[in-house]
Amino acid sequence: DPKVCLTITVLGCSGDLAKKKTYPALFALFTHGHLPPSTIVLGYARSKMDDDSLRSRVRDFLKGTPEMIEKFLGACFYEAGQYDDASATGPVFGGLASRLRDFERERCGDDGVGHRIFYLALPPSVYPPVCANIKASCATTEPAWTRVIVEKPFGRDLESSEKLSSEIATLFHESQLYRIDHYLGKELTQNLVVMRFKNRFLAPLWNRDNIASVQIVFKEPFGTQGRGGYFDEYGIIRDIIQNHLLQLLCLVAMEKPCSLSPEDIRDEKLKVLRCMEPVSTSDVALGQYGASGDEAAANKPGYLDDPTVPAGSKAPTFAMCVMRINNERWDGVPFIVEAGKALDEHKCEIRVQLKDVPGDLFSTERAAGRQARNEFVVRLQPDPAIYMLMTVKEPGLGVELAQSELELLYTRKYDGTYIPEAYERLILDCVNGDQQHFVRRDELAAAWSVFTPLLKYIDAGGLAPEVYPYGCDGPSNARTLRERAGYVQARRK
Ligand code: BG6
Repeated sequence: DPKVCLTITVLGCSGDLAKKKTYPALFALFTHGHLPPSTIVLGYARSKMDDDSLRSRVRDFLKGTPEMIEKFLGACFYEAGQYDDASATGPVFGGLASRLRDFERERCGDDGVGHRIFYLALPPSVYPPVCANIKASCATTEPAWTRVIVEKPFGRDLESSEKLSSEIATLFHESQLYRIDHYLGKELTQNLVVMRFKNRFLAPLWNRDNIASVQIVFKEPFGTQGRGGYFDEYGIIRDIIQNHLLQLLCLVAMEKPCSLSPEDIRDEKLKVLRCMEPVSTSDVALGQYGASGDEAAANKPGYLDDPTVPAGSKAPTFAMCVMRINNERWDGVPFIVEAGKALDEHKCEIRVQLKDVPGDLFSTERAAGRQARNEFVVRLQPDPAIYMLMTVKEPGLGVELAQSELELLYTRKYDGTYIPEAYERLILDCVNGDQQHFVRRDELAAAWSVFTPLLKYIDAGGLAPEVYPYGCDGPSNARTLRERAGYVQARRK
């Protein structure tokens, strides 16, 4: 058998994403022995530097024993070059290609099989020329494979996203493209399919007859933190909702797939998106954070105080959209999807609220505000947990009702178990050729279709964000919309 080896080329290796996410994830895979032996990680960027300077740039972002870190860095190399160069006389990726060939020859001989992954930690504007250059100079011949990992944003709307997809599709087959949405790599996201389809008691409840509303909430307690330039071009809907939260929504709402194959699962997610109308402009609340104005706490600057944000920007840093799925299971159930920066807490959760009990024996308790609805909650972060809110009798001589939790707290139940980071899992999936947790082109287009009319309306100034103070729980228009959509706030005694 020929010898086989793997090279992972990180294009844009000196950027933030590569340093903070890609290299640490590769390091974790290396530490846990998940990368094939003799894998090489080749960083590529424009700056002139050598292997050692790359290693010292990356070192600070790795957490582990010094021996392990040095061992990993020993497999990390650097190649400088352009991404696109109209004036180049030879192939732009000529240097990169010969470096890859040398590595492969060294490790698996002249007739070895060198598989190649290209991780594009780059702005999407250079995806097409970079993909063209990979194809021209670095693509492998069978049985060796080439796979390309790309990061969002994949366009700004349906049209630009499809344009990007079409350009790349002329170069690589869909089976070679891995569009990362790192929310698909989170532990609790991956649990959704098991939880939904392997628990008999949940299945009969999971529909419009029993569920009153579904909330999918993302909150961050910090602002743009110097990323204002990027953020302002996109806003919170494109940054979080159209991708991360919509993917969660699909996994919560989809029908049982025919099998666990990546295509069957992605087919079901696509069907959910195709049953959705574009978000109506009257089902949206927008916000933009202002300064905290809190004299007692440290004064936090507003979005417009970020020097990288254009003066007077109307980009939303908070958005809530009420979305609807027009199918037999979900007709009439609001999916309240919400994301915001500079809020009161760090959280991402899915909150499924059940309807009131019919023929309620305890309606007087409810009228007194002492009883709430059942809820089923999946908390992705912080503190991953799955819990149910249940109404029980309070201990004592009377019959007083209270809300209580049936709770699976991961830190307690799985104390000491290693929970991999999203990027680790996803890169490993790519090494193994498993596309289940990556976004397919038709899914991406359907996701953009749901949001494009709304985004165009907002971009044209149709909806202005309400200013909310840094650190609060969201703008007041969101509270009103949530109640109007039908969410009943659980009241505790
Ligand atoms: C990214 C967004 O995709 O996700 C960021 O661009 C956001 O704005 C981040 O902060 C949140 O990811 P996580 O895994 O920290 O919740």
